[in-house]
Amino acid sequence: MTVDIAITVMVLAIIVSIVASTMFTGASPVPTSKSVRGTMLAALNEAGGPISGPIYDLGSGWGGLARVLAERYPDCPVRGIEISMLPWLCSVVRLRWGGPENLRFLLKDINKIDVSGAALVVCYLPGPAMEKLRPKLEAELPPGALVLSNTFALRGWQAIETRTAPDMYRSQVYLYRVGNL
Ligand SMILES: C[S@@+](CC[C@H](N)C(=O)[O-])C[C@H]1O[C@@H](n2cnc3c(N)ncnc32)[C@H](O)[C@@H]1O
Repeated sequence: MTVDIAITVMVLAIIVSIVASTMFTGASPVPTSKSVRGTMLAALNEAGGPISGPIYDLGSGWGGLARVLAERYPDCPVRGIEISMLPWLCSVVRLRWGGPENLRFLLKDINKIDVSGAALVVCYLPGPAMEKLRPKLEAELPPGALVLSNTFALRGWQAIETRTAPDMYRSQVYLYRVGNL
């Protein structure tokens, strides 16, 4: 009986935590699907050229996309930035069990971190969050830096590559290079 109550309280706390942070940020921690990840990596590979320097997953959710990037680019430091406690905690715990050396997860607001050294910024954020982020990216990213977005385009930016993923939503992937805006 006590165990039942403890499990119920835990499940409720998890649900409340996810709902509260989704309401606060306007973005749920839905991960990029495997098929969209494949399309994103292919776009980077074929149109992005070599990447050397820090990579940021802005709003890293449960950490899956950041992990794939860290494995693909072992010489680049990869930082997953997440504001929602539970997904962040899961990413960190999973990384403790094993994962790429170049990967870290930070519990922070993406609007308050410095991305001025970034070689690549990746995001899967809804329109209003992208719109809020846009002036920051314009102010901080160095020329040549890449921005790769799942589904949501950056208003006023000209993509160097747009691809359609073979998923049921035909998700669009946008790749931008600062200096080609
Ligand atoms: C749709 S998920 C994407 C997860 C991961 N990037 C992926 O593509 O698999 C978006 C994540 O962004 C996070 N997020 C939204 N606004 C944020 C903010 N201001 N600071 C940090 N994280 C934020 C949400 O909590 C959510 O986990």
